[in-house]
Amino acid sequence: MKNLAVFASGTGTNFVAIAKACRDGILDARVAVMVCDKPGAPVIGRARELGIETYVFSPRDYASKAEYEAEIVKLLDARGIDLVCLAGYMRIVGETLLNAYEGRIINIHPSLLPSFKGAHAVEDAVAYGVKVYGITIHWVNADLDGGRIIAQRAFPYEGSDPAEVHRIGQKIEHELYIETIKKLLCER
Ligand code: GAR
Repeated sequence: MKNLAVFASGTGTNFVAIAKACRDGILDARVAVMVCDKPGAPVIGRARELGIETYVFSPRDYASKAEYEAEIVKLLDARGIDLVCLAGYMRIVGETLLNAYEGRIINIHPSLLPSFKGAHAVEDAVAYGVKVYGITIHWVNADLDGGRIIAQRAFPYEGSDPAEVHRIGQKIEHELYIETIKKLLCER
């Protein structure tokens, strides 16, 4: 059985989908730890309800990204993490974590990359008048939303309501993330 770490900053619906897929045997893996950079984020309560270890930190308590990432690397090493899944982790991964885990970190993003990188992808796409939206899962490297693409799924939407795009997209995200993790774990 493989060990996953999920990193999240907010609501945590992708985290919950991954944790439940592990619990229900859909993934032959366990979420060994959920890492959160936002004390008070709803995802923390969700992890506790699911009995998953949480590591919550506040970046402002550290002098640098290198310092808190060094702690995260120790935490991941101690748990034998095979794959790190960023799930709404709204922070750029720095070189300390990349040096230790590059090639084992994936991210989910709510656009068809390389279009609409960044934290407001759906809002930016709606403002642009996009008619085909999508979800991307990619390897994480030093470039924001820039690593090689692993999986994508598109969906048409002709309206102009970002909330609706988020709703449609999140359902796809949960399915695509599980399918993709499953494939990657089989290859390892
Ligand atoms: C997801 O829609 C994910 O694609 C997005 O954050 C949301 C987290 O939702 N990530 C990014 O925008 C990364 N650039 P969740 O907390 O409900 O899983």
